[in-house]
Amino acid sequence: MSLTPILTRLTAGPATVVRAVAGRALPSRLAGRTVLITGASSGIGEASAYAVAARGAHVLLVARRADELDRVRAAIEERGGRATAYVCDLVDPEQVDALVAQVLAEHGAVDALVNNAGRSIRRSVRNSFDRAHDFERTMAINYHGPVRLTLGLLPAMVEQRHGHVVNVVTWGVQAKSPKFAAYIASKTALDTFGRIVGRELLLDGVTVTNIRFALVRTPMIGPTKLYDKAPAMSPETAAARIVLALEARPLTINTAAGTALGLFTTFVPAASDVVFAVADRLLPDSSR
Ligand SMILES: NC(=O)c1ccc[n+]([C@@H]2O[C@H](COP(=O)([O-])OP(=O)(O)OC[C@H]3O[C@@H](n4cnc5c(N)ncnc54)[C@H](OP(=O)(O)O)[C@@H]3O)[C@@H](O)[C@H]2O)c1
Repeated sequence: MSLTPILTRLTAGPATVVRAVAGRALPSRLAGRTVLITGASSGIGEASAYAVAARGAHVLLVARRADELDRVRAAIEERGGRATAYVCDLVDPEQVDALVAQVLAEHGAVDALVNNAGRSIRRSVRNSFDRAHDFERTMAINYHGPVRLTLGLLPAMVEQRHGHVVNVVTWGVQAKSPKFAAYIASKTALDTFGRIVGRELLLDGVTVTNIRFALVRTPMIGPTKLYDKAPAMSPETAAARIVLALEARPLTINTAAGTALGLFTTFVPAASDVVFAVADRLLPDSSR
């Protein structure tokens, strides 16, 4: 049994700090690697594609909109980077299987997978009594799609004895925020799947990071007017965290607020329910 994956995992915390402090001064682990990013046509995925390509990786861009993927690919190539675009609707199992087959045939194993594509629904349960489909469609894109893609790409990672998976989730996984039952439950499923994959495949050299973002200013939050003036991270800052996840491979990347709300929810559960129940009544519902 090789000690390398164990040492890599045990030093992930300090490595994250060193990477965060030393930043670009260190040579990137991503140079020459192949990194597949889903949801690369917009927002966090697009910004991450630019950042990962700038570190010398060949970026495989995945999303449904071919024209947007071509725009991102062209922008990367203009800057001297390498990118290939793949159109895939991740909620269609046949399209995911075809994507896996094509990627493995063209590139062999990918070195890293960023499960970033997703959708959010902000709607209270009391307005969802006849909307079981909201729960089904968030599971389809935020859980079943990325799980199928990950399962397809893992065997080649295990075979080559290295690989890293980054799951883009939300601080809601810790906070369990009202009005997001469908969205947060699906992201919690992905977060848990990732953690267990990371445990099972650690000794095979495959690691997993769950990034639990708070608000990021992307098209996803556009429809929620409540967020227009709320503090939000830029997609470029979010992309820098994804690069950090790929380079230092920590178990999780959290926000301070997410960690605080997670502790509140875990250690003072009844009081946290009262606070969230009141907040739920004070904040208006969204149209989607
Ligand atoms: N923005 C936030 O505040 C925030 C906070 C926490 C976590 N997140 C998470 O961050 C991730 C990226 O979101 P974003 O904020 O960057 O939103 P965004 O700009 O709306 O990007 C979503 C991406 O997902 C892709 N996508 C959606 N459905 C797809 C499908 N069925 N198949 C393939 N690709 C699909 C979209 O591409 P196409 O439409 O071209 O398919 C797009 O590239 C999501 O998982 C989201 O849950 C966002």
